[in-house]
Amino acid sequence: MSTLQMTAPCIFGLESVLAGELRRMGAENVQAENGRVFFEGGQDILIRANLHTRTAERILLVLGRFRATSFEELFDAAYALPWEDYIGRQDAFPVKGWSLESALHSIPDCQRIIKKAVAKRLGNAYRIGWLEETGAVHQIRFAIHKNEVLLTLDTSGAGLHKRGYRQNSMEAPIKETLAAGILDLAHVKAEDTLCDPMCGSGTFLIEGVYRALQIAPGLRRRFSVEHWGWVPRAVVQSERERALSMIRRDAPFRAYGFDLDPEAVALTEANLKKAGVSGRVRVQKADISRFSPEQMTAVVCNPPYGERLLDLEQAQMLCRRMGEVFTAGESRYYIINPLERFEELFGRKADKRRKLYNGTLLCYLFMYFSEKRR
Ligand SMILES: C[S@@+](CC[C@H](N)C(=O)[O-])C[C@H]1O[C@@H](n2cnc3c(N)ncnc32)[C@H](O)[C@@H]1O
Repeated sequence: MSTLQMTAPCIFGLESVLAGELRRMGAENVQAENGRVFFEGGQDILIRANLHTRTAERILLVLGRFRATSFEELFDAAYALPWEDYIGRQDAFPVKGWSLESALHSIPDCQRIIKKAVAKRLGNAYRIGWLEETGAVHQIRFAIHKNEVLLTLDTSGAGLHKRGYRQNSMEAPIKETLAAGILDLAHVKAEDTLCDPMCGSGTFLIEGVYRALQIAPGLRRRFSVEHWGWVPRAVVQSERERALSMIRRDAPFRAYGFDLDPEAVALTEANLKKAGVSGRVRVQKADISRFSPEQMTAVVCNPPYGERLLDLEQAQMLCRRMGEVFTAGESRYYIINPLERFEELFGRKADKRRKLYNGTLLCYLFMYFSEKRR
C-alpha cells in the first residue's frame, strides 16, 4: 500500500491533542503546526483517521505544497500535480480555500486559477475538451499562508464535528471537536463518573461516553472518500469492523447532566437517544447552586459567557457560584471560559490553564486537579 500524505485542520490549541490521537491510531511522521497536523499512512489510516479522530475538523489528502507569489506560479505548480490519480473523468472538483499574509490574497482569483489548472490537467490526461463534472464530488481545498500554498482534496465531506447525533441544537452549543479535546485534556477514562452541571444540548456527555467506551465518532456517518472508488470497499469495511470491535461495552463509565432550563434537559435526552448512549447518562433539571461533586470524578463545564446567553454580570455571578460548589476534594474540574478574571471570580487559582478558541472567541480552559493529584 503506498504512503499517502495527509493533513487535518483542528481548533487552535488542540494540535497536540490531535497529534496524540493520530499517533495512537498508527499514523506516521505526525507533525503538529498551528491549527493543523500533518501525517502519513496508507488507505487504512485515511479511513481510520476519518472514523476515529475526535478533534480533527476534516481529513485532507495533500496533493502539493509549494511557494507561489504570482498567478503563473500558482497555475504551473497546480497543473504539475497528478490530479488524475484521484479525480475521475466525470467527477466534480469544486475549489475553495483561504489566504493569509500572502501576495495572492484574492480568494476568487486563486479559486479560478486552481480550477483552470486542474481542469487543463484532467482534460489532457483524459483527452477530452469538456469535463462534465456530474460524478462524485472531490472538493479541492487550498490554504495559502505567507506565500506557501497547500493543495488538498477533502476526504471527509461534511466537517467531522458532524457526528450525526445532534440534529437539534440550542443557542450556544459547544462544538463536538472542542468538547472532545477538553475531555482528552481532562484525561476522561472508562472508570470515571463524568458530570456537566450546565449541559445545554449534552455535547460533553455524549462525547464523554464515546471516549470512555472507545466508540469511534464517525461510525454513524459516511465520508466523501467512500464515494470516490479508489479506496477498495474491503479497506473501508475492515476499518468499520475494527472500530466496532474496539467498543468497550464493559466500561463502568457513567455520566450526569444538569441544566436549569427544562428545554435543555429535554434536548439533551433527545440527543443522547440519537447518539445511542442514553443508558449511560442521567439528566435532570437543577440549578448550579444545588450542585454537589460527591461521586463525580470529573466535572466539565461550559457556562454562559454573558454574550449570547445571560448578561456579563449574571455570567460573572455564575463563576462565583461555581467556585462555591466546585469544592476541592476527590473531583477534578475543567471549565472553559473567556473571562481573564475567571480565577478571581471562582475564588481559586487554576492548577493549569490553556488557551483554546471557541469559534473565534479566545477562551481559557481552567483546570483544577483533584486533591490526590495535586
Ligand atoms: C453555553 S450553554 C452550555 C452548552 C453545552 N456545553 C452544549 O454543548 O450544548 C450554558 C447552559 O447553562 C445553563 N445554565 C445557565 N444558568 C444556569 C444555572 N444557574 N444552573 C444550571 N444551568 C444553568 C443554560 O441553560 C445553558 O444550557
